[in-house]
Amino acid sequence: MSKSVTVRVPGKVNVYLGVGPREFSGYHELATIFQSVNVYDEITVSQASELKISVSGRYTEGVPTDSRNLAWQAAELVARACGEDSNIHIEIDKSIPIAAGMAGGSADAAATLVACDAFWNAGIPREQLDAMAGQLGSDVPFMLHGGCALGVGRGDVLSPVMTRGVFHWVFATFDDGLSTAQIYAKIDDMRGLDFELDPAVPTELLGALTRGDAPALGRLLHNDLQAAAIAAKSKLGDALEAGLELGALGSLISGSGPTCAFLARDESSAIDLVVALKATGLVDHVFHAHGPVHGARVISTSR
Ligand code: C5P
Repeated sequence: MSKSVTVRVPGKVNVYLGVGPREFSGYHELATIFQSVNVYDEITVSQASELKISVSGRYTEGVPTDSRNLAWQAAELVARACGEDSNIHIEIDKSIPIAAGMAGGSADAAATLVACDAFWNAGIPREQLDAMAGQLGSDVPFMLHGGCALGVGRGDVLSPVMTRGVFHWVFATFDDGLSTAQIYAKIDDMRGLDFELDPAVPTELLGALTRGDAPALGRLLHNDLQAAAIAAKSKLGDALEAGLELGALGSLISGSGPTCAFLARDESSAIDLVVALKATGLVDHVFHAHGPVHGARVISTSR
């Protein structure tokens, strides 16, 4: 068998997403709390005659298999850094929903950085991998680390956040995705040109995470992009409301959407909520996941 490296990488939810005004760079200053959750993509890297990507698993439709895929760009960055040619096959086994606000594409990029570093025995220092991740996209550095973290700047400048215990989430996803860039543009339109509030994460929310206090966290979930996501897809508002009526401790849009995230009191409430949300017919797919979990990690190597 020829050499291959497999890396597993989780999805994420932003339990808080504060968005400041659009900066000169076109990006928005963020104050966000990321939490990784145990829905995983697996990336396997092996030798090939040219750089190529194939996609399998639960979600495949619409995933680019050329240089538009961040995983492709990640492989080229690592190859350049360690003087290798980038003739590898990147196999992406997807369980993280696509264009959903759960950072699936960013997760695959982070996993490819880790996989290529291991495949070529490059030993790239962590700070350099972090810098490469930031170059690829705002969410990519968090997907390298996982856990729970405060993200500022574009969301790429991270500090770890203490948490206790496990948080149980229910995610409702939709067959049609939303474009992150369009949702940010929409929030700018909705706010107008004179908006200038700096984003900040409430200290009560950090306290709820540290104590492992799910009811308090549920009350404090917040996403500044939510109004724009609901304006783009009105049924999201109905789904968020339905989850609360069915017993969720809190609900919000994950990232730029359209995934709706519901915080449950415990695992059995989460399982009940999955069944109840499915029965409403308001959402396309529903699943349960927990967080925080660790970020991109090598899970197997064959030589
Ligand atoms: O960094 P990334 O490529 O993932 O961002 C995708 C798009 O989301 C950007 O092109 C930008 O329109 C928007 N964005 C933003 N401010 C951020 C992060 C993303 O405006 N902090």
